[in-house]
Amino acid sequence: MATALDPVEYRRVVGRFATGVTVVTAVLDGEHSAMTCSSFTSVSLDPVLVLFCPERVSRFHDVVLSAGEFAVSVLAQGQEDLSRRFAVRGRPLEGQFDGLPHTLGPVTGAVVFDGALATLECRTVSTVEAGDHTVVIGEVLGLGVPDPDGDPLLYYEGRYRAFR
Ligand SMILES: Cc1cc2nc3c(=O)[nH]c(=O)nc-3n(C[C@H](O)[C@H](O)[C@H](O)COP(=O)(O)O)c2cc1C
Repeated sequence: MATALDPVEYRRVVGRFATGVTVVTAVLDGEHSAMTCSSFTSVSLDPVLVLFCPERVSRFHDVVLSAGEFAVSVLAQGQEDLSRRFAVRGRPLEGQFDGLPHTLGPVTGAVVFDGALATLECRTVSTVEAGDHTVVIGEVLGLGVPDPDGDPLLYYEGRYRAFR
């Protein structure tokens, strides 16, 4: 029988897995939404699939599932402010993209950020309920490299870190 894990200890231990940081975006009925996500990962090459895991109680969760498409901006070291902005639960949505240079992805129409290390535009092909999150799997339909020379923003033990 499995023993119950202490959730605080779990977070401390799993936080020792270093990740990059992305902002995932979607557009639904003309409204743009975004959420900071470190659960992004590449899944498959043939077909080209990626995934990320939105928490089911987040506002972004229902938006991205209804939109059926999403875009991913992989953040550069200088984009910590952007990551912090889209990680505030329940923040005002009005004007949340103000002052953040961005364009709309040609495939999805979702926001992609200038200065990102990489951008991917995706169509959702599968979703899997997984506890308090949903695994969203997307086929990659568009790629971009806004900043070919940047260093990645890293997240480790609950803090932003510099790559070098
Ligand atoms: C570095 C970092 C990574 C995060 N990664 C995820 C993630 O992968 N999935 C998720 O659901 N929330 C993640 N969050 C928390 C969400 O960004 C936050 O709960 C979200 O902005 C909820 O907002 P909403 O309810 O207004 O949509 C992360 C936060 C930080 C700071």
